Amino acid sequence: MPHIPAFVALNADGVQLIVSLSSGTPVILHFGADLGSSLDVAALGLASQEAVPHADLDEHISPGIWREDSRGFHGRPALLGQTNGQNWAPLFAIQGVTSDPDSIEIACVDQSAGLEIAVNYKLSKEGVLRVSQRVKNQSNETYAVEELNAWLPLPDHVTETMDFTGRWVKERQPQRREIQVGTWSREIREGRSGHDYTIVQLAMTPGANYQTGEVWSVGLQWSGNTRHLVEKLPTGRASIGAGELLLPGEVILAQGEEYVAPSLVVSYSAEGIDGITDRHYRWLRSRSNHPSVVRPRPLTLNVWEAVYFDHNLEKLTQLADVAQVIGVERFVLDDGWFGSRRNDRSGLGDWVVSNDVWPNGLKPLIDVVKSRGMEFGLWFEGEMVNPDSDLFREHPDWILHVEGRTPPEGRFQQVLDLTHQAAFEHVFSQIDAILSEYDIAYIKWDHNRTLTDAAHFGKAAVREQTKAIYRLFDELKLHHPGLEIESCSSGGGRIDLGMVNHADRFWTSDCNDALERQYIQRYTQYVIPPEMLGSHIGPTESHTTHRTHSLHFRAITALFGHAGLEWDLTQTTDEERAQLKSWASYYKANRSLIHSGRMVRIEQPDDSVFVHGVVAQDKSRAIFALVSLRGMPTSTPNALRFEGLDGVANYRVKLVEPAGKAQYVGRHSPRWLDGVVLTGAALARVGIRPPILAPENAVLIELERL
Ligand code: GLA
Repeated sequence: MPHIPAFVALNADGVQLIVSLSSGTPVILHFGADLGSSLDVAALGLASQEAVPHADLDEHISPGIWREDSRGFHGRPALLGQTNGQNWAPLFAIQGVTSDPDSIEIACVDQSAGLEIAVNYKLSKEGVLRVSQRVKNQSNETYAVEELNAWLPLPDHVTETMDFTGRWVKERQPQRREIQVGTWSREIREGRSGHDYTIVQLAMTPGANYQTGEVWSVGLQWSGNTRHLVEKLPTGRASIGAGELLLPGEVILAQGEEYVAPSLVVSYSAEGIDGITDRHYRWLRSRSNHPSVVRPRPLTLNVWEAVYFDHNLEKLTQLADVAQVIGVERFVLDDGWFGSRRNDRSGLGDWVVSNDVWPNGLKPLIDVVKSRGMEFGLWFEGEMVNPDSDLFREHPDWILHVEGRTPPEGRFQQVLDLTHQAAFEHVFSQIDAILSEYDIAYIKWDHNRTLTDAAHFGKAAVREQTKAIYRLFDELKLHHPGLEIESCSSGGGRIDLGMVNHADRFWTSDCNDALERQYIQRYTQYVIPPEMLGSHIGPTESHTTHRTHSLHFRAITALFGHAGLEWDLTQTTDEERAQLKSWASYYKANRSLIHSGRMVRIEQPDDSVFVHGVVAQDKSRAIFALVSLRGMPTSTPNALRFEGLDGVANYRVKLVEPAGKAQYVGRHSPRWLDGVVLTGAALARVGIRPPILAPENAVLIELERL
């Protein structure tokens, strides 16, 4: 029998995980702030033992991480599954434990059920915990896995949760609620992460905000069906968890087969939501292939809202000419360049350059783009097919479907079954051919409908389809070194902590309305850093909301992301072009700060303004935006405060307007606007008096340590 220690622990960056193994099952005693090196872990174990109430089992049994019914746990078990109606209530015993300074692996077994289950905890140096679980069937009968969720206990002083919901052009809207007895389950069943996907779920101490309170977060590394959970039992104990949402029969394990669940990304902050954001950003940015580590994020022009399906060389050349003057670095041709795709009803699936619109291929346009100093990007939607396409006419059976019926269409399209090897190879080879023929730096990859009846030869196949798209992206990158991929899904329908490992950019939303974008970007940025989020200056009148915004407001909104333009620039005035040029050079001069610093959001006494910014890691510089969202409830605005600065250092503070002037509606503006010097502590605790901005206006504030 291998030696099983009584406790194992990990700590990094002020975060600690302590797991007790002494009761025969892994029990998380603590995940949160580092409890100090003098802690007696055995004493913590003793102190954590529960009293035994009346009308319960005679002894308190720690349910541990597997939460088995057989241990008297009456909440949701970690593993649900069965073998022909048997083995539905396993009892796992610890079989082996291995650990090193940053990870712990615990293997457990239920001999009589023939099930092996294991968990791996890995704590990054930034204090981000990854929890990976897997289950293996060793019996000679098949075992159907229904769910394998990973859970962490929440301290009793955690009373609130926050998660995010949304829809097309309004993704990531927060929902904050009190944790009550019961299970709060955010489920995604549409075969992609979806507009309604939470990306991350938070649990917080009462009233926690951006800088204060304790916050725990959980997010899943998966782009298919998911479930995020918070459960509170009548005992008073609460926990937070997540896992892949498996469809019936999706995972049936034969003898020796294993189900590896998507990993959970977990973090803890003692300094509010900004602390959670900071850990995720530092963790993602520590990757050698993180987009802003590889190279500065190029200023992008996407021509979708400029020309839609109306492709012609002359018009696109005019656009490229203006883009060059402004300083654009990447030019992206969107939907409509291939097959019979003159509108959204046909041609999807035929990834061959259209003779009708591009009789000489894409080379003439790419030459125009490159000769004006820009790189070229191209749109694909390789997981989809219009029934009116050569591909569908030839292979109608290559769509995800249940035998004998055709799924309802979404945007006149069906989902190609990429788990079908021939279909996968077909898509790969057509796209590979385009990428081999032309000099293409970047592809925008769309996914414009939900999955229904997502079956491969009768069997539910969302899981396999999700793995196939990861594989397709990875193989395209392998064959075309340096290729960047943007994940788009009718805007922000496939942004998640799984796709961060396969894509370089996300299209945050089809909504380019700057006011809506303020909210969408703020909440998407809780765990996804700005350098991965496409944010474009759209047309003066938004195409999705028909609101009209001044250029400066759109420009300041687009600055806090991987910035770009999506607008018919040939229609712009000289003044607008000059403002865009000034904004473009501001973006280029400051993107290294915006894409590497700490994101800070300042809590406000009312909802009329947002104040958010990026502070350099060494606190030497910062850029904040003061955003007027709506009319103020008071006649003069609340103090403009800044957090995250060096309290004892002096900073020069000034207001800058690199993309045109905001509309001020006061009689006089304060006199500090050209510069004032205050300590970081004064800027945090007292602040400065802002000018009065009209609603839907914004200004930038630069801070520089002296
Ligand atoms: C989706 C995307 C848009 C655009 C269109 C093209 O809606 O979100 O940005 O690419 O498809 O059809």
